[in-house]
Amino acid sequence: MKKPLFKFPLAVIFTASVFNAYAADYKNPALTAELRVDDLLPRMTLVEKIGQMNQFVGIEHIKRSEKHLSLAEMQAGDAHGVYPNLHSSKIPNLIRKGEIGSFLHVVDPFEANRLQQIASESRLGIPLLIGIDAIHGNGLVSGSTIYPSPLTMASSWNLDLVRQASVETALEMRINGAHWAFTPNIDIARDPRWGRVGETFGEDTYLVGEMGVAVIEGLQQGDFIGSEKVLANAKHFVAGGDPLNGLNLSPMDVSLRSLKQDFFPPFKRAVDAGVFTFMAAHNEINGVPAHANRFLFTDVLRDQWGFEGFVVSDWMDIERLKGLHRVAPTQKEAVFQAVDAGLDMHMHGPRFLKPLIELVEKGRISEARIDAAVRSILLAKFRLGLFENAQVDTTAAAGIMFNDQHQQTALKLARQGIVLLKNDKVLPLAAGQKIFVTGPNANNHTLMGDWVFEQPEENITTIVEGLKAVAKPSTSIDYFDVGDQVKNIAPEAIAAATERAKKADVAIVVVGSNSLRYDRKGKTAGENVARSSINLFGDQLALVKAVHASGVPTIVVLVNSRPLAEPWVVDNAAALIEAWEPGALGGQALAEIIFGEVNPSGKLPITVPYSAGHLQSVYNHKPSAFVRKYVDGPTKNLFEFGDGLSYTNFIYSKAKLDRSSIKPNQSSSVTVTVTNSGNRDGDEVVQLYIRDKFSRVTRPVKELKGFQRIRLKAKESRKVTFEITPDTLAYYDLDMNWRVEPGEFVIMVGSSSRKSDLKTVTLRVK
Ligand code: BGC
Repeated sequence: MKKPLFKFPLAVIFTASVFNAYAADYKNPALTAELRVDDLLPRMTLVEKIGQMNQFVGIEHIKRSEKHLSLAEMQAGDAHGVYPNLHSSKIPNLIRKGEIGSFLHVVDPFEANRLQQIASESRLGIPLLIGIDAIHGNGLVSGSTIYPSPLTMASSWNLDLVRQASVETALEMRINGAHWAFTPNIDIARDPRWGRVGETFGEDTYLVGEMGVAVIEGLQQGDFIGSEKVLANAKHFVAGGDPLNGLNLSPMDVSLRSLKQDFFPPFKRAVDAGVFTFMAAHNEINGVPAHANRFLFTDVLRDQWGFEGFVVSDWMDIERLKGLHRVAPTQKEAVFQAVDAGLDMHMHGPRFLKPLIELVEKGRISEARIDAAVRSILLAKFRLGLFENAQVDTTAAAGIMFNDQHQQTALKLARQGIVLLKNDKVLPLAAGQKIFVTGPNANNHTLMGDWVFEQPEENITTIVEGLKAVAKPSTSIDYFDVGDQVKNIAPEAIAAATERAKKADVAIVVVGSNSLRYDRKGKTAGENVARSSINLFGDQLALVKAVHASGVPTIVVLVNSRPLAEPWVVDNAAALIEAWEPGALGGQALAEIIFGEVNPSGKLPITVPYSAGHLQSVYNHKPSAFVRKYVDGPTKNLFEFGDGLSYTNFIYSKAKLDRSSIKPNQSSSVTVTVTNSGNRDGDEVVQLYIRDKFSRVTRPVKELKGFQRIRLKAKESRKVTFEITPDTLAYYDLDMNWRVEPGEFVIMVGSSSRKSDLKTVTLRVK
């Protein structure tokens, strides 16, 4: 979208420049960001320009690594954000010389202020842009609101709440001096072995796109002008969510057709929603690393989609063009390939500025290319108000971080994101029972998920704490502590569990995974933590079986970040709850569901496969995918995309089309009446899927095309209507044209993607 040139009438600008009290126009806040960039850019030297494209890790972060790591450790990997040949004490001087324009992972407002103060001493006084992985709240900063993980948010199918959480995250970031959230992660997660599934919105292109847009709208709030909004970042472009062998950053070979129909749409929608930054993916795509991929970042992103913001590299991935992918024999060549492909900022460190200066001086990269990159970066800084308000008021954080309103949003998201998968009439639990609770994730902080550092104990409600707080006085809770590590449960504890559980009326076992990045040894999920199997880690199943052996009805609660395949649990647990990583107030939300104060309403944004051997198990597979069967086990999923139970029942009427026959350029709509036939109020997520009956190019057996979350009182009915536009029906045809092919389409509406849950009707396109 083009911005108007003038924010103020010409007369005002004229007056402003005649009586300009500012030393230069770019310092004048009355002028538009665009005019200020026009003034500033020509004043900059080449070094200062490239300095804007140069990002470093926060100095305190580096100092910690310098203190704790040996030189050998620093050189062994690039995970720590240390620069073996550059001591942290030298960095302030680089800022002063205008050689650094951005930082990441500055987790303390005092440090942010210090860095900005140093930047203000540079020749032009250009403030720094500070980025951070505020993926579900500003979790790397202590005291922030930890919202449920993105996968949990996606399970809520509630865009308003996701948008609201993002508005609040922006506030919590700005008060700590950060201006740029490296989110939304709109990767399509198709392999649950991959450690990063929990930070995505799941496997479906449409749902991921909707969620991504909600995050962008919340963080940027349009033009991100002012001091309460932040830049969003669409990442990782592209296709890293289905990595070879499930291992982070491994290659991705994907057809152009699949790129266009499965992986591109959430990113295109992000651009249409005005996202101002993109991040390149770690992986190679069809032989060309994303970081050197001109097709992606120039042809598609800028030329076809009209993206006007800037692109940042991912962590040291320009360096990996040489060191890992081996497409560039030197660092200078790597920098050339990245900038030439369309990358505008380097994450992170000292190996970018000098090579790029040389490339421009030699004429291999034009100064116009540099200007284009710097223009976007400066535009962002002006719009964010950084030239006026780079310093933050460190006393204001207390009223904003983890305040009541933010806690309420986190709680609502958790209530709506937790998914009830099985219930043999055991839930909700009546008052007055003796409840036995155990499991490694029952009383720890794993429910916060990845991209979080340690948080104040009092901010986090564990599951045991939640159960104790919500239980009626007549209910007793016997917590049996087996340690807080999913990897490590003492055999004696497992042996003792059966006898202890026998004393109770009902048992709750909380198992799952651990993606806490500060618990390096205990982690079983998260960035760079892939698994070759997707069942319960270690001895957790043995613990569940031990409790179940007591004969007491056993409720299994999963606190985990990605689909977990444990058929025995599905068959034998009296109830199964997928809590995902429900955030700081997750323990409360879960307890409210267990005791029936909240009626569960989450729905799976990802399929739960039968085992790792069953991968790839996505709901929108091609017709021929599961025609042949496995000889060594069932060919089925444990749970389907969109699954999720309630304590009430929803009944769907027949689906009706308003027009059953249309032309390719026309629209129709489908309506169902949903009735809450039970005695409890409840929320339902009504889902719309389509299938093209016959097409020249094979189509998925179903594709999500719409959803609505509705609240129905007991016995209440409501009509739900979905528009069916040409875009709902179109696909890339034999010649890769996006169009509606005449023929019949099956329109399906229901409570999950499961065939038996869907009402179908046929739409004819003539
Ligand atoms: C991740 C990115 C993240 C960046 C900065 C990388 O390792 O892939 O998603 O934004 O680190 O922390």
